[in-house]
Amino acid sequence: MLSDKMQEALNKQINAELYSSYLYLAMSAYFESTDMPGAANWMRCQAQEELLHAMKFFTFVNERDGRVLLSGVEGPQTEWASPLEVFQHVYQHEQHVTSLINGLATLAQQEGDHATSFFLQWFINEQVEEEASARAVLQHLKLVGDSGHGLFAIDRELATRVFVMPAPATEGGAGA
Ligand code: FEO
Repeated sequence: MLSDKMQEALNKQINAELYSSYLYLAMSAYFESTDMPGAANWMRCQAQEELLHAMKFFTFVNERDGRVLLSGVEGPQTEWASPLEVFQHVYQHEQHVTSLINGLATLAQQEGDHATSFFLQWFINEQVEEEASARAVLQHLKLVGDSGHGLFAIDRELATRVFVMPAPATEGGAGA
């Protein structure tokens, strides 16, 4: 059973993960409109991952006999000045999400909620990856600057990302 405080915080995180998905989908649309299909693909995969994150929280709240209460998802930014600005935004956003996950982990500790603490470990690890992958693309973009060839090469690289839906048995586990 979840405490009221923990349930409310987990519900807020469902909203935050859905917002992340919406934000990355907006970025995918931006890249489609600026003829960077590889970056659009990368963002689409990212949006799908965020949806998966939201569903992990959704499933967990239900499993703990809590009540999922969905709320309105804020509209995301839709325009950026450059690919560099987009990935700066991604990196900052992931740092923000890391702080949200850390806040949840602190609350779970305060509540003595070991099951939630354990559940959150997956997200703590995931955020290390999320920040690292955003930072890697950001660094490449900084290196190439305004070079058309450079941007073309990065776009081709980003086109190789594939979203793999985890098997149901591993949902909530470390393999997702
Ligand atoms: Fe769900 Fe990108 O963190």
